[in-house]
Amino acid sequence: MTDTDHRDSYPPSPAFAAAANADASLYQRAETDRDAFWAEQAAALHWHEPWTRVLDWSAAPVARWFVDGKLNVTYNCVDRHVLDGHGDQVAIHWEGEPGDSRAITYRELLAEVSRAANYFTELGLVAGDRVAIYMPMVPEAIVAILACARLGLTHSVVFAGFSPSALRQRVDDASARLVITTDGQWRRGKPAPLKEAVDEALSANGSTPHSVEHVLVVRRVGIEVAWTEGRDVWWHETVAEASDQHEAQPFDAEHPLFILYTSGTTGKPKGILHTSGGYLTQAAYTHHNVFDHQAGQDVYWCTADIGWVTGHSYIVYGPLANRATQVVYEGTPNYPDEHRHWQIIEKYGVSIYYTAPTLVRTFMKWGREIPDAHDLSSVRVLGSVGEPINPEAWRWYRDVIGAGTAPIVDTWWQTETGTIMISPLPGVTATKPGAAMTPLPGISAKVVDEEGNPVRLGETEANGYLVLDQPWPSMLRGIWGDPDRFRSTYWERYAEQGWYFAGDGAKLDTDGDLWVLGRVDDVMNVSGHRISTAEVESALVGHSGVAEAAVVGASDATTGQGIVAFVILTAETTDTGNALVEELKAEVARAISPIARPREIHVVPELPKTRSGKIMRRLLRDVAEGNELGDTSTLVDPTVFEAIKAGKS
Ligand code: PRX
Repeated sequence: MTDTDHRDSYPPSPAFAAAANADASLYQRAETDRDAFWAEQAAALHWHEPWTRVLDWSAAPVARWFVDGKLNVTYNCVDRHVLDGHGDQVAIHWEGEPGDSRAITYRELLAEVSRAANYFTELGLVAGDRVAIYMPMVPEAIVAILACARLGLTHSVVFAGFSPSALRQRVDDASARLVITTDGQWRRGKPAPLKEAVDEALSANGSTPHSVEHVLVVRRVGIEVAWTEGRDVWWHETVAEASDQHEAQPFDAEHPLFILYTSGTTGKPKGILHTSGGYLTQAAYTHHNVFDHQAGQDVYWCTADIGWVTGHSYIVYGPLANRATQVVYEGTPNYPDEHRHWQIIEKYGVSIYYTAPTLVRTFMKWGREIPDAHDLSSVRVLGSVGEPINPEAWRWYRDVIGAGTAPIVDTWWQTETGTIMISPLPGVTATKPGAAMTPLPGISAKVVDEEGNPVRLGETEANGYLVLDQPWPSMLRGIWGDPDRFRSTYWERYAEQGWYFAGDGAKLDTDGDLWVLGRVDDVMNVSGHRISTAEVESALVGHSGVAEAAVVGASDATTGQGIVAFVILTAETTDTGNALVEELKAEVARAISPIARPREIHVVPELPKTRSGKIMRRLLRDVAEGNELGDTSTLVDPTVFEAIKAGKS
């Protein structure tokens, strides 16, 4: 950030501000009485039974919000809109990659979800059971999620780009009884198998038994699939045949709604647990105010995948709770060509568009003449999520996609926070390119040093840590099956103060506005996807030719960070050339996911280590980025860099 950056600010137009859902009084109201403020937000939902207390923080860090309250999450996202007379409103304009499309009204969505709920019940599933959902962006994925929520089944959505072993790890960790998948998925015009990965996942680990009783398969691409009789069932022969009548039952506000796995600093992903009442309250509240969503008027499009938290909170729960009409797109932005997103915006009149900085930078690379060839005048709010957005991309996004007028909401949050925490309000905030600005009304955050002292405003060193110093309704309630890891990861660092440590660096400018700087732990952010260095390292050393590996995230103009690996080969390995490097890249893609494929792999004779044997990633990052080396005085062998640089060239 240069000193001038924070002076460049963009207030909303008076017309936008006057018509917006939120005005500045929201901050004031939240400040005056936080509990009353959140109670007011929760009251926008339908509760079968009211809560007796807004927040019980006595068992911190595990919060209970809306104590004793009972609700049904899906009833709130679907049934009540139909009962309110909006059954014919389109909930989902689904756009398939090959060009097929479906418009699904709230009434149709209710019928589909009811069928699925009836069939899940027929399978013997009961509230509290876990269901894994491993599906591309098809409407049935959203139906499956909502049917789980309706029955109190805890869903665990696994991104369909993850490998069989990543799926198996998640299925095992949560002991899922049902896996829902598709025969395959469209990939740039070609069908690619997906059920095959489920078969492989479930047959892996030799004879180790797994918890899965059934695999429910949606036919999407029409390819042949292997079939395990008694275990595998087709969606169109079961769900589609079930009754479309189903009465939603209430569940406790703290009933587990979903588990979503995310990367941490070790090789084992963390199953982040979210519950019902507080989560839905904050999902609906943020969607309403941050995107200024007007039910029945806006056409909303969040380009995330349901495999990530953004898809959970801003494709499924937030928008549907608010009776949105939204676009859901199955494919990639450049199939059949780079015009696809802008054609979709034109076709449906998208007014709110929420995407990731990496995609904005990709669009920039493709050239502004592509969006310029389309009528994007329906767009009135733009959102950004997943990583810091650089000022250049921010300005391009506003000028080219937002006609120089649409407010950009740069939303900071995490899988763990469940929903948006720090963001401008589009009708209130004078936004700055690259800044997440301020915590939302009802949310409290601080930027502090190691000891927990507030950083000075305008500090130019990246020395602040982002902490959340008050509980919030959609906060994670734990890590599935690992309460110790929950405490040590998030609550130990500032245990004395009782603050949540987010793992991000941040700074405050001289106006007190907040700029998120990126992760301060060994987690990389590649195209907005969280990938741990340890996971990639463990995939690399899983190859027989590799003795040791160190992985860092290096700056990348498009993806934010790119994965750069340094490997030491085993003595037996004689092939040190390109073929091996390619094989190793493929191995990581296979073991984790193509999104974790390293950008570069360098074979080196040695890795820089401290005397205690810790790999100095900071120095490797300097090497990867071609920077001057930082302090090497704690290294065992400072000459190691000559060898590494030789390996790199
Ligand atoms: O480093 C921050 C970055 O993404 C991390 C959370 O990743 P994940 O749990 O996968 O959730 C992504 C979608 C919410 C954060 O710790 N991050 C997310 N949003 C922003 C961001 N960094 C800067 N600015 C943002 N708006």
